[in-house]
This record gives sequence, structure tokens and C-alpha cells, in this order.
Amino acid sequence: MHPPRYRAKSTIAHYAVPRNMESGHPSGLTSSALEVLGWRQHCDSTATALRWGGTAMSIQLNHTIVHSRDKAASAKFTAEVLGLPAPFPFGPFLCVRTDNDVTLDFIDVDGEITEQHYAFLVSEDEFDEIFGRIKDRGLSYWADPHHRQTGEINTNDGGRGVYFDDPDGHALEILTRPYGSGS
Ligand SMILES: [Fe+2]
Repeated sequence: MHPPRYRAKSTIAHYAVPRNMESGHPSGLTSSALEVLGWRQHCDSTATALRWGGTAMSIQLNHTIVHSRDKAASAKFTAEVLGLPAPFPFGPFLCVRTDNDVTLDFIDVDGEITEQHYAFLVSEDEFDEIFGRIKDRGLSYWADPHHRQTGEINTNDGGRGVYFDDPDGHALEILTRPYGSGS
């Protein structure tokens, strides 16, 4: 299991894409699945309820707030590295919209910023493009959420994944296969 600081993190990939929850209970958990065991159990039970409960539901994550020191810089960084459209303003926020219509709403805050985790499910081609931009920018990257495997990517679930930080220290992740989908 990972340190407690990772347990309460919200993730785009884990919560925003309903299809991620359709793989059912994994028979053999990978290390990445163990990383989010708590989330997986929640998602699996929810998915099971949706499949067998007979109740049509359409709940989707719509937006989340990202604390930043410089929302313009941070939103621009995320949009550019991920290859998403340029940020757009909404009230006090600068918003970056993902392809499943979730927006990351960046806002400037004073005081300490608590690190959060945002994971993005991408295609293999998109992984190549994004990973290329990570390397072009000279960003540090890791194969694991604990930042132990520096300069490496992982191949969890038969796909590829990598972690990197945004300007405020939020832990970003791209992965080509949802956690547990390869088991
Ligand atoms: Fe993650």
C-alpha cells in the first residue's frame, strides 16, 4: 500500500470516466491497482450496483478545483503538456477541459497548497505525444507514485503510465489502461 498521503486524492481517470469502472473485480491486483485499492473497491461496488441494480444512472464528474500559485501558468502548463485546448476563464477560475468534458478549474490561493493527484486516461498515441512533451520540457518523471523509479515509465495492466508534477507540485499521471483492467 502507498503512504496515507495518496489515499485521499481525487483522480480524473478514476472517477470521471464511467467506462473505467466496467472491468469488474480484479482477480489479481497489480501494484497500480493496490495503489488505489480503496478507490477500486469503491468503483467496483458502484459499477456492480449499476450493472445489477437495474437503475440507469448518469452521474459523471463535471469539474474539480485545482489550487495554484499562478493559475495562468499552471493551467497553461497542464493544457500544453496534455495537448488540450487553451484554458478559458470562468469567474475566478481558469478552466482546462478534458475530452470527457471534465474541467480542471484552476484558482489562485494563498498559503500552503496541499498536493493533489490528477490522473488522465490517454490513448497510446497520446501517451507518445505527451511523454514527448514531458521529455522536451526536461521535466522529472517517474514510473510510480512514490517517485522512486525516476526516469522510467510503467507498463501496468499491459499499457503504459508515467507520473510527473505540475508547477504547484500536484502529482499528474497519464495512463493508457485503467487500473486493474489488465488482470
Ligand atoms: Fe493514480
